[in-house]
Amino acid sequence: MQAPWWRQAVLYQLYPLSFTDANDDGYGDLRGILERLDYLSWLGVGAVWLSPIYASPMVDWGYDVSDFERIDPIFGDLPTFDKLLKAVHDRGMKLLLDFVPNHTSIEHAWFKASRSSKTNPKRDWYIWADPKPDGSPPNNWLSRFGGSAWELDAKTKQYYMHSYLPEQADLNWRNPEVRAAMLSVMRFWLDRGVDGFRTDAVYSLIKDEQLRDNPPNPNYKPGDDPSEAFLRLHSAGQSELFHVLNTFCDVLATHQDRFLVSEPPLYLSLPGLEQLYDACTTHPLHMPFNFNLMTLPWHATRFRDFIDQYESILGQDDLPNYVLGNHDQSRVASRLGEHKARLMALMQMTLRGMPVVYYGDELGLQDAVVPKSQQKDPWGERVPRHHHDRDVARSPMPWKAGRYAGFSRHKPWQPLARNAESANVETEQAHAGSLLNLYRRLIALRGQSPALLDGVYASYPHTSESIFAYTRTSDQQQFLIVLNFSDHPARFKPSHELKRLIVGTHARSGAETLSGEYAPHEGRVYLVSGEEAIL
Ligand code: GLC
Repeated sequence: MQAPWWRQAVLYQLYPLSFTDANDDGYGDLRGILERLDYLSWLGVGAVWLSPIYASPMVDWGYDVSDFERIDPIFGDLPTFDKLLKAVHDRGMKLLLDFVPNHTSIEHAWFKASRSSKTNPKRDWYIWADPKPDGSPPNNWLSRFGGSAWELDAKTKQYYMHSYLPEQADLNWRNPEVRAAMLSVMRFWLDRGVDGFRTDAVYSLIKDEQLRDNPPNPNYKPGDDPSEAFLRLHSAGQSELFHVLNTFCDVLATHQDRFLVSEPPLYLSLPGLEQLYDACTTHPLHMPFNFNLMTLPWHATRFRDFIDQYESILGQDDLPNYVLGNHDQSRVASRLGEHKARLMALMQMTLRGMPVVYYGDELGLQDAVVPKSQQKDPWGERVPRHHHDRDVARSPMPWKAGRYAGFSRHKPWQPLARNAESANVETEQAHAGSLLNLYRRLIALRGQSPALLDGVYASYPHTSESIFAYTRTSDQQQFLIVLNFSDHPARFKPSHELKRLIVGTHARSGAETLSGEYAPHEGRVYLVSGEEAIL
């Protein structure tokens, strides 16, 4: 039996507002994406995840949905979406949509009805509670985006709960009608042919029924982000959320070959991830994102230990995955710098499971400089001192050098990344040693190598503080991957007989290819046995 597509695909996250603007209004759109699909096939991407494209007042840039079954006019319309989906499928790729179950925009018809009166049939679709006797919010829960998680509704004199912005009211997932309505949203898109979803903010889905206060965070220090002052013991992470996830999987399983990715909190440790993997009891089609590589201290041993432990908690059908960046974080090339970013690309593409690439990271795109006056992300506005500036990683995809980088003929909604003049598709395609060509080579190698796709991972016995090395082994092939994490040259002599160097972060020729000398942040993929191309 052929392995399901998600066991082979590289997942590419595309932020639709910033990919390509086909109608010259400064914002990316569906037609723009359609025009660029050849690039994604050229790169070797297997599946594309679109950040939200639904109707939205765009307070949180699409994560505040006002109609789950309509495309926002900024992106296009349903017929254009259908065309895009077909074109993605025609190229042998898959398409995942962002599913935002935790909250709706306060402009959603459901919320408008809910807030209209205490007796409205949709009142209980959201989380409403009376003020305390002194008029203050019902409890001490804090919004992740700053301030109380409660907003007073002047008309009905109750507070509604919002884990994020006051413009994003949390749905009440304890209400069966809400569950039914949201599962029907999933079916709407699955029936149209989408291949699955990335599910937003799953940890927030269910809250304590008694709305108990959260306990203080013992690690909180004055000066830290105020929204971290209390542990989210009662406002998130309730055990019932696993049951809800299971219902998502049940819906997906009614259609063939659909897949679910979920977004855990950034801080979630391995036992938490394991629970999420186990949430779908009957279908191995759910994968929580693994964000750990974005926060692990830069050290060979830390990476090796983490990956060994991660591998050890996974069940037979669980798919590991490695995320290096997304629309909520500073760009990987800015966090780590160019050399480490190359090393991470090599590591990500040679580990087991699904690599996840955020658009532009394949170019080594750096953060944009976004002046305060041009800031679009409401988070930065609400918590200025702890400026979580997510705009920096949402800059227009640079297709070529020049004023608007081939993204648009109009001034883009976000400034270009600081290195867009050199880190752009046209320039990097023409340069054999570019990060883009390294990504492409690695993706192609992975796609044709059973050992890299599904072979066993084994870390190499610890030999040096600088080197993290591992083998990937299938019946027909074995690879050895060697990564020098250090800022200094390092030596590594494997006990394996090496057949040849297949690809590396640094150009090597002749005797150098088998030498045990590694430059700072150099990574190499060796074939140990079998042939390079097998599929
Ligand atoms: C998720 C999204 C983020 C959004 C938030 C609220 O964390 O990744 O962009 O702001 O949920 O929907």
